[in-house]
Amino acid sequence: MKPGYHEIYSRYRDNIARGVLKPGDRVPAIRVLAAQLKVARKTVETAYAILVGEGYLVSAGARGTRVNPDLLLPAESGPEAQATGTLPESLITQRERAGFLRPGVPSLDAFPYKKWLLLAGQATRAMRHEEMLNPPVMGWYPLRQAIARYLNISRGLSCTAEQVLITSGYSGSLRLILDTLASRSDKVVFEDPGYFMGQQLLKRTVPRLHTVPVDRSGLDTDYLLRHHRDARFAIVTPSHQSPLAVTLSLPRKQQLLDWAGQNASWIIEDDYDGEFHYTRKVLPSLKSLDQHDRVIFMGTFSKTIMPSLRIGYVVMPASTVDAFTDCAEIVASGQPILTQKILTAFLNEGHFFRHLKKMRALYQTRRDWMIAALREVYGDRFFTEQNDGGMHIVAFLTRGSADREVARCWQQHQLQVNALSEWYRGSGRRYGLVMGYNNVRTYQEAVELLERPKQQTLEIMG
Ligand SMILES: Cc1ncc(COP(=O)(O)O)c(C=O)c1O
Repeated sequence: MKPGYHEIYSRYRDNIARGVLKPGDRVPAIRVLAAQLKVARKTVETAYAILVGEGYLVSAGARGTRVNPDLLLPAESGPEAQATGTLPESLITQRERAGFLRPGVPSLDAFPYKKWLLLAGQATRAMRHEEMLNPPVMGWYPLRQAIARYLNISRGLSCTAEQVLITSGYSGSLRLILDTLASRSDKVVFEDPGYFMGQQLLKRTVPRLHTVPVDRSGLDTDYLLRHHRDARFAIVTPSHQSPLAVTLSLPRKQQLLDWAGQNASWIIEDDYDGEFHYTRKVLPSLKSLDQHDRVIFMGTFSKTIMPSLRIGYVVMPASTVDAFTDCAEIVASGQPILTQKILTAFLNEGHFFRHLKKMRALYQTRRDWMIAALREVYGDRFFTEQNDGGMHIVAFLTRGSADREVARCWQQHQLQVNALSEWYRGSGRRYGLVMGYNNVRTYQEAVELLERPKQQTLEIMG
């Protein structure tokens, strides 16, 4: 069978890692290798682009492509080399140090770096004088337009560019929403269990913070109506609850929207990974069902592009745009123009759609590997619940409640999972490991990673 781009990529990576190919070695031209392997040029080009993006290869234009001469592989890092203390780390060490299975990190090996670099070059060369001044606090207008178009077409929202506000991501969005619309006496409700970073942020900034339990149908809206009908804000993750990964049922969505409409409350919809659904079509967002304009929608490019981009956005209800603008003029300073320009081109030229489509297929495969590997290594010690998508799974403990000890043990093996019970505030605690699977590159790798802490895990679980 002809190799795909991923196989070509893996072959190079493995041969470089094993020292068969050495730093500085030339690799065949795309055309030559494509002819040799009888594959399309595009296939080789994609594999090379990923290898260049990850730093395994460097391209020197007409002088061809080489194994990165600065690449330091473990076998070469002798004592004298280490003594200098300034050496670049090998990629293998880098991956090891960053840790594996960290929830919420997209597949960094599959990002179209080459395209991104091209657009980055174009955007840099096209910087105009006025773009070198302070960026507009509400965001670069063409990006606001591009996001509005994307949300209208793909997420069923109906919003204008004027309603889109560019931020630095979750905390930037949430702080600006609360700065604009909340007073210190407002009651705010959050999900239990809920996004760990969100809890930490809100605990610092909101005096009247309460939680509402989450079950298999998402936020318990009956509980909300019974205990916190007077809340002014509800912060929710309806597409895939964070961390349980369940979807808010349609009747509950309606109940939540009715509550907000009747009480003039605000729902903050944190749509952090709503793009990733595998078993059915993308579900309508809460915002798309919002007849009374009570939903403030928050999105991010951290999951669809990369977390270090630091670009997120808020879709402001039409009635609040002026208030947001006034507040942003005082408390915000805008995001870097260059990044916004590159991202705009990435969206407008169709690369974003193509990338999402590829990632949906890849994530489904990697998730299936992870679930199968869990079963192979741990039998019935863990179980997972069927859900529709997202970027992480929860491996529930079949018995016992030692998820914190297990998570600590896995972390010592560079497996950066979280203990589910730590994300709870109230009762009804469940026990498990919240784990990402997007950067597991083969089924075998998933098995090998899970084998690392096996002995100790079985001892802890008893
Ligand atoms: C529940 C939730 N919301 C939002 C985000 C996005 O945060 P940011 O845009 O700051 O990267 C994350 C990222 O992990 C998340 O898990």
